[in-house]
Amino acid sequence: GKVAVVMGGTSAEREVSLMSGAGVLGALQSRGVNAHAFDPRDQPLSALKTEGFDRVFLILHGPFGEDGTLQGALETMGMPYTGCGVMASAIGMDKLRSKLIWRALGLPVPDFELVDEHSDFAAIEQKLGLPLFVKPNIEGSSIGVTKVKVAGELKAAFEEARKYDRVVLAERFIGGGEYSAPILGDAVRGYTVLPAIKIEPATEFYDYQAKYFRDDTVYRCPCGLPAEQEAAIAALVEKAFWAIGGRSWARVDFLMDEAGKPYLLEVNTAPGMTSHSLFPMGARAAGMSYEDVVLMILDTTL
Ligand code: DAL
Ligand code: MG
Repeated sequence: GKVAVVMGGTSAEREVSLMSGAGVLGALQSRGVNAHAFDPRDQPLSALKTEGFDRVFLILHGPFGEDGTLQGALETMGMPYTGCGVMASAIGMDKLRSKLIWRALGLPVPDFELVDEHSDFAAIEQKLGLPLFVKPNIEGSSIGVTKVKVAGELKAAFEEARKYDRVVLAERFIGGGEYSAPILGDAVRGYTVLPAIKIEPATEFYDYQAKYFRDDTVYRCPCGLPAEQEAAIAALVEKAFWAIGGRSWARVDFLMDEAGKPYLLEVNTAPGMTSHSLFPMGARAAGMSYEDVVLMILDTTL
């Protein structure tokens, strides 16, 4: 078979996707897979058929690639692809809807408020406390995210986030650490949660620079939690992924409070696969090389 590594695209995370895609393409080729880069910015999707591809390794990040749009197009073409289907992709890209689903199931999420231009900014700062996080609802790689530390700065943070999405969230700060866990599988065959990674950014939080360019972000994997707690987290991660209808692969981000209670942030349904990315770190801690895990993901193609 001939595999298209679909990468690049037109979202704000284009550069990240190109880095992820280069890694995936190299891994597939090194294992003898007939794989080729395919950038939907430059070619119509119909070229997947005319150029004889029979499946897609989808490594686009952000809107149009990770949000169900492209997934729907591939479904209508009858082209198998890696990753979540239409619904889970759409929910995973939408932080608000993810939270609403998890909250309805009693899964822990940080308190949040929707913010718009009519909001009482001071009241939100008061209610959630400082610091707090402001995020565009639909975006990735911390693009448009601000940590508000000083009273009166929520409005400016809102205006920054608003450049990326009309829907903006303010979220309570949870101060016991940033974590993320990769997951593979589906509801029928079962899920496997890989070891969680603890992220210790040298910056205020794990922002775009810390994610991809700085070499002073500290990653701990295994993350140092007692086995019991790691197992509880794996169960939560699995529930969170199941709840959005997830399949194939993803990475679930969460925060921990000082008492060791985890709070779900979001599911990334096409997680980064760059040299700095978390998914391959979790795989490595489970004894899988980058190439091994890329082949495992390819095998999940539906
Ligand atoms: N959105 C980036 C690519 C990630 O979650 O890894
Ligand atoms: Mg994300």
